Amino acid sequence: MSNEIQQKIQSLRTQLNQHNHNYYVLNQPNISDFEFDQMMKELIDLEQAHPEFDDTNSPSQRVGSDISNDFAQITHKYPMLSLGNTYNEDEIADFHQRVTKAISDDIEYVCELKYDGTAIGLTYENGTLKHAVTRGDGEKGDDVTANVKTIKSIPLKLQGDFPDNFEIRGEIFIPNKEFSIINELRIENGEAPFANARNSAAGSLKLKKSADVAQRGLDCYLYYMLGETLPSSIHSENLEKARSWGFKIPEHYKICNSLNEVNAFINYWDKERFNLPFEIDGIVIKVNDLNLQNELGFTAKSPRWAISYKFQAEEACTKLVSVDYQVGRTGKITPVANLEPVQLAGTTVKRASLHNADIITQLNLHKDDMVYVEKGGEIIPKITRADENSRHSSAEKISFITHCPECGTELIRPEGEVAHFCPNDKQCPPQIKGKIEHFVSRKALNIDSFGEQIVDLLFEKKLIKDIGDIYSLTYDNLNGLSRSSAEDNNSKIFTFQEKSTQNLLQGIEKSKQIPYANVLFGLGIKHVGATVAKTLSKNFNSIDKLSSSTLDELVCIDDIGPKVAKSVQSYFSDPDNQQLISKLKVAGLQLETEEEIIQEGKFTNLSFVVSGTFTNFSRDELKSIIEKNGGKNLSGVSQKTSYLVAGEKTGPSKLAKADKLKVKIISENEFIDLLEN
Ligand code: IVH
Repeated sequence: MSNEIQQKIQSLRTQLNQHNHNYYVLNQPNISDFEFDQMMKELIDLEQAHPEFDDTNSPSQRVGSDISNDFAQITHKYPMLSLGNTYNEDEIADFHQRVTKAISDDIEYVCELKYDGTAIGLTYENGTLKHAVTRGDGEKGDDVTANVKTIKSIPLKLQGDFPDNFEIRGEIFIPNKEFSIINELRIENGEAPFANARNSAAGSLKLKKSADVAQRGLDCYLYYMLGETLPSSIHSENLEKARSWGFKIPEHYKICNSLNEVNAFINYWDKERFNLPFEIDGIVIKVNDLNLQNELGFTAKSPRWAISYKFQAEEACTKLVSVDYQVGRTGKITPVANLEPVQLAGTTVKRASLHNADIITQLNLHKDDMVYVEKGGEIIPKITRADENSRHSSAEKISFITHCPECGTELIRPEGEVAHFCPNDKQCPPQIKGKIEHFVSRKALNIDSFGEQIVDLLFEKKLIKDIGDIYSLTYDNLNGLSRSSAEDNNSKIFTFQEKSTQNLLQGIEKSKQIPYANVLFGLGIKHVGATVAKTLSKNFNSIDKLSSSTLDELVCIDDIGPKVAKSVQSYFSDPDNQQLISKLKVAGLQLETEEEIIQEGKFTNLSFVVSGTFTNFSRDELKSIIEKNGGKNLSGVSQKTSYLVAGEKTGPSKLAKADKLKVKIISENEFIDLLEN
């Protein structure tokens, strides 16, 4: 019996490994996601019932775990060096000359894309992944094996005629699509977006929990094989061999026999790189013959047999007209540069982010400076430097403001923070309006008829000065109220008619049914994004319990750090906030929940996107069923999505994306079947 079970487990593992490879490396799945999930579930159930057959390289390990990683250091068998950089054809020609002088005129190069991610070294013993180690200081790096196992394009077990022991190196990266999804989610959760895909790949790899890494959509190209018994003495042949063992090897590389061919490859990718689904920052040129590589050897820092060519970052020069200071709902001051419009990477740029006071000081900006703007993976372009030579001698230096541009209060810079804040959170208009806008927003109380214009109008007319006032608005307050445009001869730009008044009041009434976690998020407590609010609501199932929680109780919760805990405490210790909560209680908002924490269930390890409208459930009800059964809700479709639960009027872009990524699309009834069977 036990032998049969072992064979069954083995057969499931082999099949699942093959299906993973078909999907993530070859892009050619031949079973449906549903079938895959069923097989995986069968494997996980068998493995749980028979721990004696555990294998740390089982495909079930790909989902990651919730155990916190502390990274041990591992010494690299071969030092992990980097490459020398070149920036133009002349420097490439110099490299070619050095190589030909040492060897002969007849050299075969391989040109590859230079992936913009974070380097990784994978060691395999007898065909199984042993260790995955970061570059670290080049001598030793962090053992990130558990995290790397969640990357589906990295084989855990090899097929074919692989050597017993070898290392293969490559680059872990986040594809563009995944990068924007991660950032959209971060913004929705009130977290700062990642500056670029490279940083987020490196950051993701160092996450404490591999289950979180599994959600990041990481991918990996392998481009360098090391070992005592490699299959061939030609680099490109080794890579092709590695492809046959199951690795994801660069698709776009070229064997070049002359400098002209190398330059043609560079020029082609300089333009074509923008059509790739991931970022590259240059081209790597390598001598193809390993014996010649050995002859050329290494300098202290890099090989003499390879060089990188770095693409110019896309840059434009324009005039700095002025700097605006925006005040966010938390009082955070964000400086933004206004520029003379300029074309950059296909778009017109008028504004650039300056981030904080330190950046302004570092750039030594003056009014009317000619500045260089660059577009990396960033959301809005950034200023990289000012042209000091063209600056007028009397130009006025730009220094960070000392007082709030909106309410005149002196700014503070809390210890340990890079940002300045306006501390006048009770009276500073953009802070008050920002808090109300946040409260009514989609992820919070979701009062969709309550846009920015309406917040402005009601605030101006002194009908609301905090979120509690929303629930005292009446038909008589609102009907006929109008806003006019100062610029446009006082013409009315908005008037509350019968219908818009009713809509708003209905929206407000409906918001009283919005779950407690959303209300908690809507309060706009510093550092409490949507995810943290959910965690808090699950651990303290009423606002009263949360309000009387101690600092110790808060920090004990998984994912709640001291920064969040202190902020929660400080929020509830403010009598004005207590008064506000009383107002919300009187209004009848959901300030408690019966939800329990369930981590294991039917949907453990599955993620869902729920979209559209349904017959038997509201969207929120479906989401809560998913959570109660151990599943995860995602807001956008990605490769990590297990199912798109599509109701009526599901967004066409979500459907198209699911179709493209082969994410299984299920109806409400199919969802119920899944739950019940
Ligand atoms: S080969 C001895 N090939 O760029 C170094 N590196 O600045 C052999 N990189 O450390 C590296 N794409 O992290 C190689 N096709 C490629 C690459 C590549 C990206 C990274 C890698 C390397 C860094 C050099």
